[in-house]
Amino acid sequence: MADPFVVAVANRKGGTGKSTTSVNLAALWAQEGRRTLLVDLDSQGHGGLGLGVRPGRGQAGSQQCLTGEVATLDAALVATAQPGLDVLPADTRMPREPAVDAGRLAALLQGQGERWDRVIVDTPPSAGALLDNALAAAHGVVVPLQPHALAAEGVRQLVQLFFRTASTVNPGLQHLAIVPVMRDPRVRLHRRVIDDLARQFGGFRILRGIRADIRLAEAFEAGAAIIHYAPRSRGAMDYQLLSEELEALW
Ligand SMILES: Nc1ncnc2c1ncn2[C@@H]1O[C@H](COP(=O)(O)OP(=O)(O)O)[C@@H](O)[C@H]1O
Ligand SMILES: [Mg+2]
Repeated sequence: MADPFVVAVANRKGGTGKSTTSVNLAALWAQEGRRTLLVDLDSQGHGGLGLGVRPGRGQAGSQQCLTGEVATLDAALVATAQPGLDVLPADTRMPREPAVDAGRLAALLQGQGERWDRVIVDTPPSAGALLDNALAAAHGVVVPLQPHALAAEGVRQLVQLFFRTASTVNPGLQHLAIVPVMRDPRVRLHRRVIDDLARQFGGFRILRGIRADIRLAEAFEAGAAIIHYAPRSRGAMDYQLLSEELEALW
């Protein structure tokens, strides 16, 4: 049985564009004909909301799948308005991280290649069981960051966790891409932060990134991916290019 290709979107800082990147890559992949599942592991629920998904009252979420409270993914799955795109939303009434083994998500996704070609996992900024589950299930990690002075620390912690996971529980974890978000090439600080990251983690891992575009925030509010909300916007163009860059890297 085939397994889907799993990508975790992670950064140990909040507000760096994780949910925006998860939602928009998921929608692009589905549009390209890849059957895609977005797994939202952040109890803020932004991954699901960004695709217009509001789970029903009392419906199980991704956390209950991990704890085994529900036996299969199907109890929590929601189809989106876009063909080929499903969401496993987070339960927003469960702000506390469940205490679960790090291998749960990998086990749930095993053999699911019949249903999905790709899985993208939106993660919380906190270190803990949920982030561990995402990395243990992933083949690749995308790290969105805002190139501020303190940005490198969140990335450094994540990169450490990436290598530790790849060399222990998940040898299938092989790809790491760092994506500057709201980067402005005219801002000297942004250039310096990105040059430092390239020196530390390898220039080939730093992708072009996503420019600031208010349309991305508006699309999120509207519960739609940017390719549907504003297909000709800067944000739509940048996410399309990111998707192409990632394909070349993998
Ligand atoms: N490229 C961008 N341009 C403008 N606003 C953005 C961009 N990317 C994300 N945002 C906005 O920044 C905020 C944080 O993004 P979000 O994806 O929710 O981050 P995280 O999931 O890491 O907390 C959101 O309000 C989002 O709409
Ligand atoms: Mg988020």
